Amino acid sequence: MSYPQRRPRRLRRTEALRSMVAETSLATNDLIAPLFVKEGIDEPVPIPSLPGILAHTPSSVVAEAKELAALGIPSVLVFGITDRRDPLGSCAYDPNGIAQVALRRLVDTLGDSMVIMADLCIDEYTDHGHCGILDPLGNVDNDATLAIYSQVAVAQAEAGAHVVAPSGMMDGQVQAIRKALDESGHTDVAILAYSAKYASSLYGPFRDAVSVSIVGGGNRRGYQQDPRNLREALLEVALDVEEGADMVMIKPALAYLDVIAAVRANVVVPVAAYHVSGEYAMVVAAAERGLVDREAVILEHVGAIKRAGADMIITYFAKELARIIHA
Ligand code: PBG
Repeated sequence: MSYPQRRPRRLRRTEALRSMVAETSLATNDLIAPLFVKEGIDEPVPIPSLPGILAHTPSSVVAEAKELAALGIPSVLVFGITDRRDPLGSCAYDPNGIAQVALRRLVDTLGDSMVIMADLCIDEYTDHGHCGILDPLGNVDNDATLAIYSQVAVAQAEAGAHVVAPSGMMDGQVQAIRKALDESGHTDVAILAYSAKYASSLYGPFRDAVSVSIVGGGNRRGYQQDPRNLREALLEVALDVEEGADMVMIKPALAYLDVIAAVRANVVVPVAAYHVSGEYAMVVAAAERGLVDREAVILEHVGAIKRAGADMIITYFAKELARIIHA
């Protein structure tokens, strides 16, 4: 070999050198914690499919959010769990629906010190389990669903949400929601669009957590994206930005790092990635069996999502990760 000899290992020799040249780093302000609030319970209850995660009452969710804020986590994403289901998912836009009750409590207590986000969808509240309402033939009716989403957005905004996050993958949902928010005077409520949401097998533990099963053993492949496609994600993202999305999201995260990188290169708005329930559960299960080192894998997985280009990461590990970062 000719001189000078390139020896990349020189910069790997000490921890201080490695830190100095690190290209990315994880910080608590990259993290968004998903929070579940359940109707009809007096105390928080464990979620069996997501070991370590609780379904909260409206008061325990406030305590949890405060704890997260104290750890430096700037934001939470609220999901409601209810047994009151109907064809329209009306609990999603009921001002006294569980999510709205929790949002109001969170905003009353935390004010603007934390970003309070609301997942905007109806599958947790429909008796058929789809993210949209059904036409007489049982198909998801895109445009009729937009009217429902608009009502949900307004209810969440009136409850005080700073950000609404539409996750139903209906065409035109961002535009419809933006219009409904503006027309009801909520011009300052932002939209984080689940733009590239794939029809993934990694949502199982979440669906168990919110007890969603899709009627007739159905699936979401008619509206969520085909995991084989990347360019389609760029189209979805471009449409959402055009329709007024303030931020966009890719979901899941680890199996879609190429999508995160491509989206990051294509838009100027902030990019979020959702490290989903199945990604969480696999690490928890493998660590429980002693097959992997839990902390190390959490850092490597969430770090990879950051390196791929995500500005914000929604993860069930948020609290644990904040503790690891502070340690
Ligand atoms: C739909 C929604 C889902 C998740 C978040 N919002 C489930 C789905 O599309 O079936 C999944 C989140 C996760 O798996 O962690 N409202």
